[in-house]
Amino acid sequence: MPVNMDHHWLPFSNNRLFHAEPQMFESAKGVKYWTPEGREVLDGSSGLFTCAAGHGRSEIAEAVYEQIQKLDYTPHFQRAAPISFELAEKLSGLLPEGLDRIFFASSGSEAVDSAIKICLAYHKANGDPQRTKLVSRAWGYHGVNLGGTSLAGMVGNRRDFGGITCDVVHMRHTWNEDQRYTRGQPEDGAHLADDLEAICQTYGGETIAAVFVEPIAGSIGTIVPPVGYLKRLREIADKYGILLVFDEVITGFGRTGAAFASQEFGVTPDVMTMAKALTNGAIPMSAVAVKTEIQTRVIQSITADRPELMHGYTYSAHPVACAAALATLKIYEDDRLFERGKALSDTFLDLVYSLRNLPQVTDLRGYGMMSGIQLKPGAAPGEKGSIVQRRLFDEGLHVKATGDALIFAPALVSTEEELTQMTAILQKTLGDAELA
Ligand SMILES: Cc1ncc(COP(=O)(O)O)c(C=O)c1O
Repeated sequence: MPVNMDHHWLPFSNNRLFHAEPQMFESAKGVKYWTPEGREVLDGSSGLFTCAAGHGRSEIAEAVYEQIQKLDYTPHFQRAAPISFELAEKLSGLLPEGLDRIFFASSGSEAVDSAIKICLAYHKANGDPQRTKLVSRAWGYHGVNLGGTSLAGMVGNRRDFGGITCDVVHMRHTWNEDQRYTRGQPEDGAHLADDLEAICQTYGGETIAAVFVEPIAGSIGTIVPPVGYLKRLREIADKYGILLVFDEVITGFGRTGAAFASQEFGVTPDVMTMAKALTNGAIPMSAVAVKTEIQTRVIQSITADRPELMHGYTYSAHPVACAAALATLKIYEDDRLFERGKALSDTFLDLVYSLRNLPQVTDLRGYGMMSGIQLKPGAAPGEKGSIVQRRLFDEGLHVKATGDALIFAPALVSTEEELTQMTAILQKTLGDAELA
């Protein structure tokens, strides 16, 4: 039956193009989608870096079904259900040591904006209310709510919304020409963290609340941090009393080889955001993890009978989302999926780097089970990405494109055979010198 497409306004989409040539999925299992016509499309981006355990996991479906029947909703303002405490405890066991106080929300964007408010509340509680400035990085993506839009270093995401942004200073991104085709972490570039030092000198370190970075910049097309860069950021943040926030919305839950990129790179932030693979994408949910002393300080600073943090959402810690997350974490543990992703990474990156000499490829980047494929630009910025993404769908592969980069990051459950099939489709499409 034909679908009436008039009423749904698609997010981050060229709606005109979509209406002219719709590309839809109707069902999914494992690392495969099927279109309404029944055509198979391999999933090269784990949905949107969400479905690390593959699609259609019955364990999650059953947990969700049971939870809706048992307790479909709890208000969380001065009320709670045991399941959210169970999830928070479980998560704190996976997180880097010290990050063990968890605030729940429903999307990565909500997690980022919650993290901003927690950082500001912490400094106020600490007697430092003048710390209101935020630092982030060029090419960074931190969601689309007002705080995240302000932090955005992908400036296209701020362009149409002048006037709504808060006080953010941007560091430089870490990519340069010499890094082209680097596999893993580039050796040079740790000095770029000194941008934070320069910002502190310019604005006064005592005015800065927090520095937000994605450990691996994901949405821009997988930019891997140079060796020593994150450690240097940590040192400078400590020197000036600035909170270091890792936005692990993409890098969390095994994408880099460890549970979180923080552990993989050996640098512990004060605050961490996560979402996406927390529930394997099945139910919206996100979280902000903070160091114990951050929560303690905020809570102890309020003596009146009022909420200590004047912030929260109707759907914070939704019990059904908690059930989905618990079932997802159990899959990760039972199937040892983080270890599996780590073990698969070499094969995956070998396949990615086999694309090196194709006419449409100008750079390759990769770490763990995420990679960026930079395309030869088309007539206008982003045009080639859109053309390639559509062509790949026709050839049977879903891959996320941002601008002229593809983010190839398959599920951690992918087999070598499936990865090889995905790569063959990329080879065919990116090998077409005439593609324009
Ligand atoms: C690093 C990062 N932060 C935040 C977000 C926003 O998440 P959401 O789309 O769930 O709001 C994303 C989404 O891709 C992301 O990659």
